[in-house]
Amino acid sequence: MTSKEIRQKWLDFFASKGHLVVESKSLIPVNDPSLLWINSGVATLKDYFSGKKIPPAKRLTNSQKSIRTNDIENVGVTARHHTFFEMLGNFSIGDYFKKEAIAFGYEFIFDVLKLDKQRIYITYYSEDKDTYNYWIQNGIDPSHMIKGTRDTNFWDVGQGPCGPDTEIFYDRGEKYDKRGIELLKNDIENDRYIEIWNIVFSQFNNDGENNYTDLATKNIDTGAGLERIVSIMQNAPTNFDTDLFLPIIHEVEKLTTLKYDIDNYFRKDPKQTKINTYFKIIADHMRASVNAINDGVLPSNVGRGYIIRRLIRRSYRAGLALG
Ligand code: ALA
Repeated sequence: MTSKEIRQKWLDFFASKGHLVVESKSLIPVNDPSLLWINSGVATLKDYFSGKKIPPAKRLTNSQKSIRTNDIENVGVTARHHTFFEMLGNFSIGDYFKKEAIAFGYEFIFDVLKLDKQRIYITYYSEDKDTYNYWIQNGIDPSHMIKGTRDTNFWDVGQGPCGPDTEIFYDRGEKYDKRGIELLKNDIENDRYIEIWNIVFSQFNNDGENNYTDLATKNIDTGAGLERIVSIMQNAPTNFDTDLFLPIIHEVEKLTTLKYDIDNYFRKDPKQTKINTYFKIIADHMRASVNAINDGVLPSNVGRGYIIRRLIRRSYRAGLALG
């Protein structure tokens, strides 16, 4: 499946479940001084969740372009960090809640993507018995249900909607890490269990100072990383080894005598690892810069413009390293 097909399958699936497909909004937040960038699907829908605005429909779905720059140093070093990414989402604004959201998750993972049941693990907030029961009723084996805490299974990023969540993980197997399920149980950073989808039961509003009030309605906010799902469907060792990044990497290869090498992921030759990292940095930062500039941000000394300038400078440095 190509990345285009996967994105389309997501939108079509949720459209078939009565969701209105909404286009990706600009990366520049509108009337939201709390955010420098749109950083998730829900970031563009906050006013619907809070009740401030009436949504065009109670069920929405999108593929929202997003930027997060807090882990910029990890980009190209790890398999999955990006500055720019697309978040697939399905949203309920005062319509369906846990039961339906979990049933949709189950159906999409197993009937549409046709992932292997043995490889799927689910985390949930320890006090949330309903969520545990719904997953089991749908057909998840209890041994694949992993209890989480306030730290791991409560989505809360400052001002805006928040609540307990349940996450869907895909196990890529021993090839990626000999250690087993303890990695997930103890929330240890690893390349084996990949979180592909976070389903948030948005019930509360955080005023930005950790004062919580009930939202006007109980809502569903979800986020599935397009780049991650694509890496699984294309059996790629990292998100970069997919049709979302390889065309950019191959274009950069034309400008240098050095080559990008997918197989080095397992070979781990230190020199080639560095070379691969430079290609990945350029591919990631170019996607972010091009999309931000397309949305009207120009490189400058301040705010969003400063971030874009920094991304371009980092790409330039990686380009010099590649000769
Ligand atoms: N808003 C949730 C997230 O970003 C779905 O993970």
